[in-house]
Amino acid sequence: MNTATTEPEAKVVVKDLHKVFGNKPDVAMQMLRDGKHKDEILKQTGQVVGVLDASFQINKGEIFVIMGLSGSGKSTLIRLLNRLIEPTAGAIIVDGEDVATMSKEKLLNLRRKDMSMVFQSFALLPHRTVVENAAFGLEIAGIDLKERERRAMEVLEQVGLNTFAKHLPAQLSGGMQQRVGLARALTVNPSLMLMDEAFSALDPLRRTEMQDVLIKLQQEQKRTIVFVSHDLDEALRIGNRICIMEGGRVVQVGTSDDILQRPADEYVKAFFTGVDTNKYLTAKDVAQKEQVTIFDHPDEPAAGFSAALERMRMYDRVYAFVLDEQHKVLGIVSVESLMACMNDPNKKLRDALLPGKEAIPSSMPLNEVLRKVVEYPCPLPVVDEHGEYIGAITKTVLLRKLCKEKTA
Ligand SMILES: Nc1ncnc2c1ncn2[C@@H]1O[C@H](COP(=O)(O)OP(=O)(O)OP(=O)(O)O)[C@@H](O)[C@H]1O
Ligand SMILES: [Mg+2]
Repeated sequence: MNTATTEPEAKVVVKDLHKVFGNKPDVAMQMLRDGKHKDEILKQTGQVVGVLDASFQINKGEIFVIMGLSGSGKSTLIRLLNRLIEPTAGAIIVDGEDVATMSKEKLLNLRRKDMSMVFQSFALLPHRTVVENAAFGLEIAGIDLKERERRAMEVLEQVGLNTFAKHLPAQLSGGMQQRVGLARALTVNPSLMLMDEAFSALDPLRRTEMQDVLIKLQQEQKRTIVFVSHDLDEALRIGNRICIMEGGRVVQVGTSDDILQRPADEYVKAFFTGVDTNKYLTAKDVAQKEQVTIFDHPDEPAAGFSAALERMRMYDRVYAFVLDEQHKVLGIVSVESLMACMNDPNKKLRDALLPGKEAIPSSMPLNEVLRKVVEYPCPLPVVDEHGEYIGAITKTVLLRKLCKEKTA
């Protein structure tokens, strides 16, 4: 079995990135180097430090969510990535090339062909049909009419709007218009999509619908998506990794698990107060490895009952998990079920399995896990997406975890 994990491939690498708004950025930069706070810099010089020393990596194919309070620098940061805002200092390496120092011409080309941006409010052209709006980016890029309509129709189908292709934007609901905006960004087939509060103007129902459209597209096409949101639910729902900003600084980058379980500071923690974090914790977060597992070798003559019992005694366990050679869970045995089979030479390990004990998928949310675990007296095994055993959940462990989350 190959257990080597490969490093994720970088799509964007941001290094020591700064943005100072104002006419004296050099003065502000020097003051930052001298350790001055951005509030002091604003007071003394009138310069606004929008982004402060940001360094992080965005991986190929991930949805990278930038979160933070209003004014924390999210929009500034995402606009720096395609240089809609000129950086004051630092590097933005996209596919190995520094956007910060790239020629204007090259930059324009990159924005047209390989980087799309979707905003919260975006102007659809009112006198053009849906398909013409969707094809707009291609028109600018000089693609001929037939080809751009073909590609626009393809994308409209993906976002579920093909039957509205000939309608005008005003004939569509707000959510549908937002989908046209998304389609417009998608038709150029960018490998990098920048989305700034793209779904924020939508009502909650349409918003989740759009998130689903995005997740589905992402499964099919694996673009790299940078998504600004100030909505925690949205971030946790769609983000592979989340970047949290405060006062222009990046305070933490990690998976939702990382951030929920190991918040970098009080600010990050405060984001999650009042949030039912159990909703976002899953079975794998509480699965314990210290359980007895027994491998079933069906071809061996002896069933190995006594060896199994001996190990359970050693670890002081009443239950154990039986795995096949591929580490797939066959079931659960107890001291009693093993003892009952032990003296019958015709019985195999499989005969000692307790009836009806299902494994829990590692991605199952804790709320559901709780329901399962209370139904059974024994701990339940947790399996990954290939059905391989990764640990087990006992009532005690689960309760301890839930109590800790509530009092944290
Ligand atoms: N063009 C500008 N000139 C001066 N200051 C600016 C400019 N754009 C942004 N700022 C300042 O930079 C800081 C970060 O703003 P930014 O728009 O990036 O925040 P944000 O996190 O996107 O907020 P929101 O959630 O409200 O959209 C703020 O203090 C803002 O006032
Ligand atoms: Mg913003």
